[in-house]
Amino acid sequence: MTSPTTTPPETDIWADVSRPLPAWVPEAKLGIFIHWGAYSVPAWAEPSGALGAVPEEEWFAHNAYAEWYGNTIRIPGSPAAEHHRETYGDAPYDDFLDAWKVSRFDPAAWAQLFADAGAAYVIPTTKHHDGIALWDAPGTGTRNTVHRGPRQDLVGALADAVRAEGMHFGVYYSGGLDWSVSSFGPHTTGAEVSGLRPNDAAYNAYALLHVRDLMQRYSPDVLWNDINWPDSGKRTGAWSLHELFTDFYAANPDGVVNDRWGETHADYRTSEYEHGTDIETGTNWEQCRGLGFSFGYNQLEDTDVVLSGHQLARLLGDVVSRGGRLLLNVGPTAEGEIPAIQQESLRSLGRWMAAVGTTVRSASRWDSPAAPAGDDPWVRWLSTPDHLVALVDQIGTTPLALPADRAALDRAEVLYGTGSVTRSDAGLEVRIDELADGPAVVIIPW
Ligand code: GLC
Repeated sequence: MTSPTTTPPETDIWADVSRPLPAWVPEAKLGIFIHWGAYSVPAWAEPSGALGAVPEEEWFAHNAYAEWYGNTIRIPGSPAAEHHRETYGDAPYDDFLDAWKVSRFDPAAWAQLFADAGAAYVIPTTKHHDGIALWDAPGTGTRNTVHRGPRQDLVGALADAVRAEGMHFGVYYSGGLDWSVSSFGPHTTGAEVSGLRPNDAAYNAYALLHVRDLMQRYSPDVLWNDINWPDSGKRTGAWSLHELFTDFYAANPDGVVNDRWGETHADYRTSEYEHGTDIETGTNWEQCRGLGFSFGYNQLEDTDVVLSGHQLARLLGDVVSRGGRLLLNVGPTAEGEIPAIQQESLRSLGRWMAAVGTTVRSASRWDSPAAPAGDDPWVRWLSTPDHLVALVDQIGTTPLALPADRAALDRAEVLYGTGSVTRSDAGLEVRIDELADGPAVVIIPW
């Protein structure tokens, strides 16, 4: 017998960790992201625009992300550097960790607000790019919220509160950037973010121990890594990302991981504001964004940039109609309050979700050239096991062209909005007199 002489095809080391998506994920149309950190003390960024819409050469010196404060103030001549000097002199960034007191933090009230908004899962930052851990993370010494500043295990407090409201709990972890273990100078381009990051074995071990500690303490359902993972961990064997994923799934069959570990394994894809939107195809993606242009609380953001409840409902409807899920961020103040303007939008979204949440949760995309989505008038389509669903954000009469054989047009009704729906030659005609918290929702039994 001769042995084969051809070299075996290169194996995909991640193939064996892939598995079907847990059932809760496709129904989890709305998640709440929480960016809370020492950066919530200065809470300052130029509201320069949405990521992906601001030209890259302007973005970093005028970074709209308040959680990037520690980077932006190191860019000479940036308005943030100027603001920092004027307000805090030459105070080092870590002074904000000590100044971060969470005297008004009420995790149960936060969780209730999120559940009332219709959220199915909540993901707080556990360590952002500044490297400050929001729990007593191994290897961080006292540079965490248990030993300094808040003097609390913020991750644990949120995990308990979120679960008590029946929602899934996930953890955001910045594996790619950690400004406390590197000394590259500020990032000023996207290429620097990708290229100038800690990649060595020691940082890989440090970060792996963090994520393992998070798994052990809080059993998260989502590992939401950011930016990338140190290259030295992208392999199989001891101290590898492959081993981490394998152990994660063994411990929690309901667990999922996002796609920001580099060219590795992912359970679903992510986009962010207007960045990376090419992945928004099919049915297995999640768009994340802040209520305004920032994730961390930015005291400069007002109603001009913070989405209203009605706009949120429309955004969620749009994302779901295209097969996605929305991870919507709140940025609490350093004291531990969700700013009133953010609360108002969430409560408004909650009123819309109270009326239509069951429909939205069971919905998936419905693509039919016979009934296209449009922006003027704004119309989106969903499909549920029981209904074809039209979202219509238009006061007055909107004709909906629909082939008569597709659904029971005679039994169409308005689920949300003050108005009525009638048969027409072309399909249906929706008359809406009043809308409060979101688009009208018309359901048509199949
Ligand atoms: C980006 C940003 C970051 C934010 C995150 C949320 O990678 O660097 O500040 O945490 O996206 O998606």
